[in-house]
Amino acid sequence: MVDDEQSSLNAIKRTLRKDFEVILALNGQAALEVLKNEEIAVILADQRMPGLSGVELFQKALSIQPDAVRILITGYMDIEAIIQAINDGQVYYYINKPWEPDGLRLIIKRAAEQYTLVKENRRLLGELQQANLRLQQENIILHQEAEKEYAFTNIIGQSKAMQDVFNLVRKVIPSDITVLLTGETGTGKELIARAIHYNGPRKEKFFVTQNCAALPDTLLESELFGHTKGAFTGASQEKRGLFELADGGTILLDEIADTSAAFQQRLLRVLQEGEFRPLGSEKNISVNVRIISATNKDLQQSVQKGTFREDLFYRLSVFPIRIPPLRERTEDIPILVDHFIQKYQKKLSKSVKGIEKQALQILTSATFNGNVRELENEIQRAMTLAEPGTLITSEMFSEVLKIEQPDLSTFLDSTQTLKDLTESLERFFIKEKLVEHNWNITHTAKALGLSRVGLQKKIQRYDIKR
Ligand SMILES: Nc1ncnc2c1ncn2[C@@H]1O[C@H](COP(=O)(O)OP(=O)(O)OP(=O)(O)O)[C@@H](O)[C@H]1O
Ligand SMILES: [Mg+2]
Repeated sequence: MVDDEQSSLNAIKRTLRKDFEVILALNGQAALEVLKNEEIAVILADQRMPGLSGVELFQKALSIQPDAVRILITGYMDIEAIIQAINDGQVYYYINKPWEPDGLRLIIKRAAEQYTLVKENRRLLGELQQANLRLQQENIILHQEAEKEYAFTNIIGQSKAMQDVFNLVRKVIPSDITVLLTGETGTGKELIARAIHYNGPRKEKFFVTQNCAALPDTLLESELFGHTKGAFTGASQEKRGLFELADGGTILLDEIADTSAAFQQRLLRVLQEGEFRPLGSEKNISVNVRIISATNKDLQQSVQKGTFREDLFYRLSVFPIRIPPLRERTEDIPILVDHFIQKYQKKLSKSVKGIEKQALQILTSATFNGNVRELENEIQRAMTLAEPGTLITSEMFSEVLKIEQPDLSTFLDSTQTLKDLTESLERFFIKEKLVEHNWNITHTAKALGLSRVGLQKKIQRYDIKR
């Protein structure tokens, strides 16, 4: 409170001291000193004072504590000065003398609230800017990591089959051509789709993926195209679809073969017209999105069976790429194993010496129905079990791998007589059981229903070696 009359100061202090901390100043200069040293929420000043007038004081206060709420008290009808001050934004409120205690208290209370609000807003704004900055930085880092993760050096394959795939992939990267990726589960369809995005001109924008088999039509459409509030039961809020999010980027439509006729029709129209309408909306949205679709089914066969629209098939398979199953490129298994060992050494922060030869042999001859994903899972599992600094051994593999079924046709091909066949089967079975029981003779003999001596004789006869 700034006033050149001590009695006015005293009266104000009496009125306000119950609710506020009141600091008194007898002139503008003294008030500025206070402002420099203390946080002030409200400045209450008389207009007519020797030295600085109230408005002049406010002007100077603005550069010291701009958020302090300024209230002018005036006993004269200084309308011109007051209007000027209010218009310049220097005065929040003005009070006419003589003032009324209840009214004054109310005005100061509101002014103090205003001050808190402004402060809080400023703080939140600051936090928001900070968070924004952080998000931008994180985004850059995430992008860099994604680029690294989906760099070609991380997609393993020296086989002719995979080199052919890479050559096709390199060709489509710079363009916007619609790609259809086919291949059994776990062959790397999503990995290739990401590589196409993150190595191409769209890499700064989003890569989004939608599993089209996982959702009923309405939800799938709302995921992809968005919806307005109340478009369907449960749509309590407006939602932007993935197509909009991926504007400028890439969308992967996964498991595209497993979609309904109605959805296929909708998608076809979107592709033809280059724009879509969110569920419940009146407005069309047009976006620039690169479309990659993927399936582990034979899409052409689905067309023949009538479960997939032919016209949509042609739209999506402008550039088909087939990723071969792992069994067609077993020569890649050792380098894949090596790659996954490196990967999980980092992820698990554990280093191993490598893999035992016999264990690697099991991997190269195993049938991986889950393809590269299954192989990766085996390595991850083994790496988890392995003691640091040791070799991965076959005991660390899962049961499925250890009890691989023998391929009977190879026995049938290589044997002439029934005796030959039974013998090679017997030899195979004994060896399997020995491996299963870690070459423990007692346990293996028990499992086979033989005596220890009986088993040892057979091992000698068939020349079975560890
Ligand atoms: N050539 C490869 N080099 C390195 N890792 C690979 C390779 N192929 C696949 N992977 C890895 O195998 C796992 C499965 O790959 P991905 O998810 O791309 O398969 P998918 O074909 O999309 O399978 P699904 O049909 O089941 O969705 C991923 O962890 C991926 O990183
Ligand atoms: Mg996939």
